[in-house]
Amino acid sequence: MNSEVIVPEFYRDLAADKNLNGLWHFTHRRSADDPKKPERTVDGLAHKEAFDWKEIFPNHNDCIEIEVGSGRGAFLAEYGNRHPEKFILGSEWDYTWAAFAMRKILKNTLGNTAMLRGDIFYFLRDRVPDNSVDAFHMYFPDPWPKERHHKNRLLKPDFLKEVARTLKPGKRNFFWGTDHKEYNEWALEYFDAFPGCTVTQRNEAEPTEGIMTGFEVKYRKEGRPIYRSVIVFEK
Ligand SMILES: C[S@@+](CC[C@H](N)C(=O)[O-])C[C@H]1O[C@@H](n2cnc3c(N)ncnc32)[C@H](O)[C@@H]1O
Repeated sequence: MNSEVIVPEFYRDLAADKNLNGLWHFTHRRSADDPKKPERTVDGLAHKEAFDWKEIFPNHNDCIEIEVGSGRGAFLAEYGNRHPEKFILGSEWDYTWAAFAMRKILKNTLGNTAMLRGDIFYFLRDRVPDNSVDAFHMYFPDPWPKERHHKNRLLKPDFLKEVARTLKPGKRNFFWGTDHKEYNEWALEYFDAFPGCTVTQRNEAEPTEGIMTGFEVKYRKEGRPIYRSVIVFEK
């Protein structure tokens, strides 16, 4: 007998870290009955809540960029430092890495860079307003190489739908890089198929402004091939 899989929806709240300036937690609300369990939404629908970028960047000038999966924050710290005119949100669901990245950023940057600790997909889907982001950066995402784990890959149509919705109108860049040949081909197929998307520098892009990420430095030393592309979203 076929059984329908129903994916439960959960409450997720956004809160500033009490000790580390610039670190934001976007995490499950815990159930009052069992604090170990996340609380399901009463209606079973996504917990969408209005969000204003001023909450994270009170002085922003409307130029917002997002890095998906920042790791230890090497790219974010350097890029933020070079661009005082941009406001960049990094993201990392691992608490240790998110805090590590934020500490690194605090040493270098000018208050224009912050870290979201949480799942960036749900943050995009449930919080980020339409037409509010200038660019996305996604470097060396977890490749989930086994076929049965491909469903865990972040780059797929429901993610691209949120990227397209949140990017501002006009032509906007999505910077992509990986060392994983098969994930790269999978991603480029999705980009090619997505309405309004054009891969402009297919596997030929250099590190964005010459800034390498932590994983990239390691992989280049190992001599692995690196695939970088720039994808333009237009609407
Ligand atoms: C392989 S690391 C690459 C880190 C960094 N971009 C680099 O190139 O050095 C990928 C990172 O993405 C994070 N990550 C994966 N899925 C995520 C998600 N849905 N939301 C936020 N972070 C995520 C992982 O915790 C991991 O640190």
